[in-house]
Amino acid sequence: MKRIFAALAVLLLTTGASAPATRGTVLVVGASSGVGLEIAKQLAAKGEDVTAFVRPTSKREGLTGSPVKFAVGDATKIEDVRRVLADTKVRAIVSTLGGRPNETPRPDFIGTQTFVDAAKAAGATRMLLVTVIGAGTAPMSFQRP
Ligand SMILES: NC(=O)c1ccc[n+]([C@@H]2O[C@H](COP(=O)([O-])OP(=O)(O)OC[C@H]3O[C@@H](n4cnc5c(N)ncnc54)[C@H](OP(=O)(O)O)[C@@H]3O)[C@@H](O)[C@H]2O)c1
Repeated sequence: MKRIFAALAVLLLTTGASAPATRGTVLVVGASSGVGLEIAKQLAAKGEDVTAFVRPTSKREGLTGSPVKFAVGDATKIEDVRRVLADTKVRAIVSTLGGRPNETPRPDFIGTQTFVDAAKAAGATRMLLVTVIGAGTAPMSFQRP
C-alpha cells in the first residue's frame, strides 16, 4: 500500500502541469518511516531535491544512501516549522504525519494544522497530504477553504 501512495505522490509532484516552474526542495514531513520514507526515497531516486523534516529522535537509517537533506524539528511546534520554512527554499510540502495509538496531542492533527498555517504564511502554494483525517469524520479546519 505505501508503495502505491508513494508512486502516486511522486507522479503528482514530478509530471505534467504539476511540475514546478521554479526549483526548490520537496520537504517531506514524516520521512523517517512508512509512506513518507518511501516518497522521499522514490523522489530522490528520480533526481529530485528532497529534504526530510525529522524530529531529533527520528531514525534516519532508512534514508542512508539517498541524497536527502535533513531539517530537524517537531511538526507540532510552530516555531520549528516556521524556522525550517524560513531557512529552506521549498517548492512543495508532503506531509505523511502519523501518531502512535492514544498519542495526544495527535501529531497528524496538530502537525498538519501547524504546517498548513506556517506554509500559507510563508507563501507556499503546494502541499500534498497523506492522512486518514476526514475519512468518516467531520472535516478539520484546514480542510475548509
Ligand atoms: N500506511 C498506510 O498504508 C496508510 C494508509 C492510509 C492512510 N495512512 C495515513 O498516512 C499517514 C502516514 O502513515 P504511515 O504508515 O507512513 O505512518 P508512520 O509510519 O507511523 O509514520 C509517521 C511519521 O510521522 C512522523 N512524526 C510523528 N510525529 C511527528 C512530529 N511531532 N514531528 C515530526 N514528525 C513526526 C514520524 O516520525 P518519528 O520517526 O520521529 O516517529 C514518522 O516519520 C498516517 O496519517 C496514516 O494514518 C497510512
